[in-house]
Amino acid sequence: MQKFEELKIAITGGAGNLASAFYPLLGSGQVFGSTQKFSLQLLELPEKLQELEGIKMQIQDCAFPLLNNVTVSSDPAIAFKDADVAIFLGAMPRKPGMERSDLLQMNREIFIQQGQILNEQAKSTVKVLVVANPSNTNCATLAHQCTKIPQQNFTSLMQLDHNRCVSTLAREANTTIDQIKKVIIWGNHSLTQYPDMTHSIINGKQASETFSKDFLRNALIQQVQQRGGQILQLSRGASTISGAIAVKDHLRTWFLGTSQDNWTSFGVISDGNHYGIPKGICFSLPVTCKEFEFKVVGDVELDDFSKQRIQLSLVELQKEQQ
Ligand SMILES: NC(=O)c1ccc[n+]([C@@H]2O[C@H](COP(=O)([O-])OP(=O)(O)OC[C@H]3O[C@@H](n4cnc5c(N)ncnc54)[C@H](O)[C@@H]3O)[C@@H](O)[C@H]2O)c1
Repeated sequence: MQKFEELKIAITGGAGNLASAFYPLLGSGQVFGSTQKFSLQLLELPEKLQELEGIKMQIQDCAFPLLNNVTVSSDPAIAFKDADVAIFLGAMPRKPGMERSDLLQMNREIFIQQGQILNEQAKSTVKVLVVANPSNTNCATLAHQCTKIPQQNFTSLMQLDHNRCVSTLAREANTTIDQIKKVIIWGNHSLTQYPDMTHSIINGKQASETFSKDFLRNALIQQVQQRGGQILQLSRGASTISGAIAVKDHLRTWFLGTSQDNWTSFGVISDGNHYGIPKGICFSLPVTCKEFEFKVVGDVELDDFSKQRIQLSLVELQKEQQ
């Protein structure tokens, strides 16, 4: 694996819930490995800077051997300076009475501004993960501002949906997580996402040998799609624990690679060459990873059902990203 003398990691929304759950994973070497040194460059809104200073002190008090330095700022030019990795957790949340279109517009403005600064300040090799919702659309907005950074360096988080799909299959099949391979989440991180288990391997066999087609295409898909909403209702909060683990899994897999018999799901900026997704749309596709690069798995067979579900999510994303 390519080794960086030091990874400069920029994180926006540094005082948020997800960030706080993510720091211990990063500091303990679970994301970029147990020998990779790093520095943190944290960004927050000006009104949250004092809180972020307190979080910085807590991070320092963890005495992580891998951590060199922590800076906090409300200026994206400082936070993004020479970044090798940029993780976007900060965005305008949806407030009561706010229309989805208002939310999209406000976040569009934030990600246009931050994209322009990222393009100026970060290394041109920076690897980007957008988590803040609407994550696919925020990722597309950000990427389109960045002319100096390759579009394949931009990804959005689909790993939480992917992990939900894997764990749902394992529970239903009464087996262990490591016995589930080749799940795919297609499309948007929204209710139109298509959790596709038709190519999955369970205990070394095709999923269709364990479950009926009908169960795979109806009950199981609904379970995965509705999980986020259920958690929100039950815990009166977002998926913080599983969200932070998903951020860790996404970055770790990208950095260290997928295993030979598996793939994962990334929101990627389409190059227009796979599955009819137009160029520039940020869409979740199956990918394999090696040494901080990913490759779209381009030869998954799609039947009419899958094509229809993918189209549904594409139409939603085209509306969001127009
Ligand atoms: N894609 C996924 O699977 C997934 C999973 C979990 C959470 N999320 C999203 O991740 C985001 C973070 O979640 P959270 O629970 O930490 O939310 P949070 O509200 O606790 O934290 C967000 C932080 O971002 C900050 N912020 C807002 N605008 C900012 C800006 N312009 N620049 C810098 N910082 C800014 C806020 O002050 C806040 O501290 C949310 O948008 C959430 O919906 C996505």
